[in-house]
Amino acid sequence: MSGRSLDGLRVLVTAGPTFEDIDPVRFIGNRSSGKMGFAIAAAAAAPGAATVLVAGPVALDTPPGVERVDVRSAAQMQAVVEAALPADVYIGAAAVADFTPARPATAKIKKRAGGDGLVLELVRTADILAGVAAHARRPRLVVGFAAETGDLEANARDKLARKRLDLIAANLVGVAGSGFGADDNTLHVFSADGARVLGPAPKTELAGALLDIVAERLQRPR
Ligand code: CTP
Repeated sequence: MSGRSLDGLRVLVTAGPTFEDIDPVRFIGNRSSGKMGFAIAAAAAAPGAATVLVAGPVALDTPPGVERVDVRSAAQMQAVVEAALPADVYIGAAAVADFTPARPATAKIKKRAGGDGLVLELVRTADILAGVAAHARRPRLVVGFAAETGDLEANARDKLARKRLDLIAANLVGVAGSGFGADDNTLHVFSADGARVLGPAPKTELAGALLDIVAERLQRPR
């Protein structure tokens, strides 16, 4: 951080994947490690923001000074996020599942139930980020993430507009040494009137640079 303080502000961050249960022993998950979101929470709490971190299933230690709430599914994440509002800043770094099993089985699905194949019906999850941006208690700044395999700027700007975000931090996934699971990454941060490239750098450093942009935006006259 470059001296700009988030002191006194309430920052709400999501991190990690969500796990959507198929039955008591199986789930649909994704490769998110949670490192980016945890680094953001650490970088917000360090200069004095009251920081709440809503974390999907990850194997990471809670950063100092951060209030952490663990969740498993997208539905649980949404409930905890909404209960944690109001906040000054929302940063949705979690890789939330877009689909969840329509009817999770209460007992283990036996393979004989599927025969030669099994069709699993999925339904859309609620978009937590878009919900926060449209909320009656909308934070002053709503920041989304986008993981893209191509057309980075066009896809990110589409999400920025569609979800009514103030900023979106996009990164290319499927590129060796960056994105999911890696310690380093490059973030392309877009707003309606600007674009900045952060990194390549360790996620801890990117988190500080992203929060500098957040602090700068909060200082703009409303
Ligand atoms: N997000 C969310 N709730 C969901 C899905 C995504 O809050 N149910 C948030 C993520 O935390 C992230 C951003 O939305 O900040 C990612 O946008 P999304 O539309 O999910 O991106 P993709 O999954 O890459 O979507 P698409 O398939 O359209 O590329």
